[in-house]
Amino acid sequence: MDAMIEKIESILRKYDYRSANIIQILQDIQSLHRYLPRELLVAVSQRLKMPLSNIYSIATFYTAFSLNPRGKHLCTVCMGTACHVRGAPNVLNQIEERLKIKSGDTTEDKMFSLETVNCLGACALAPIVVIDGRYYGQTTVDKVNRLLDTYHEKETA
Ligand code: FES
Repeated sequence: MDAMIEKIESILRKYDYRSANIIQILQDIQSLHRYLPRELLVAVSQRLKMPLSNIYSIATFYTAFSLNPRGKHLCTVCMGTACHVRGAPNVLNQIEERLKIKSGDTTEDKMFSLETVNCLGACALAPIVVIDGRYYGQTTVDKVNRLLDTYHEKETA
C-alpha cells in the first residue's frame, strides 16, 4: 500500500497538486491499476482537499473509469440497434460462454472484462466488438471464437 501511495504522490506532483487536473490524475491512476481503487481516491481527496463525493461524481460520469477491478483486456460488445439486428446478441452469448462471465464482470484470472455499450457510432461495421480499443467489425460467432483464441494463445505463449 505504501508503494501505491508513493505512486499517487508522484502522479499528484506531475499535476502540481491541482484539483483542476483531476481528470488527468484519475486517468493516470486508471491506467496504472486498470481501475480506481477506493483507498487511492481517498488519498487523492485528502491531498487535493477535494471532496471525495466530487471525485466519485467524475469517476462515475466517464465510462473510461471503473470503480471495480478490470481485467488485463477490456472486451466491449456493441448492443445498439444496428449491431443488435445483425447478430450482436449471439456474439455476446458466445463471448459470455467462452469467458464464463456475464457483461459487467471480470474473469477469475483477471484476464478479461466484458461490457456492452449502446452504439459506438460505426454502425456500418455492425456487429462490432472492441478489444482494448481495437475495433473488430462484422463479427460473427466464428470470428469472435478465432479472436479469443488469438488472445488466449498470446497470453499462454
Ligand atoms: S449500433 Fe453498434 S455501432 Fe451503432
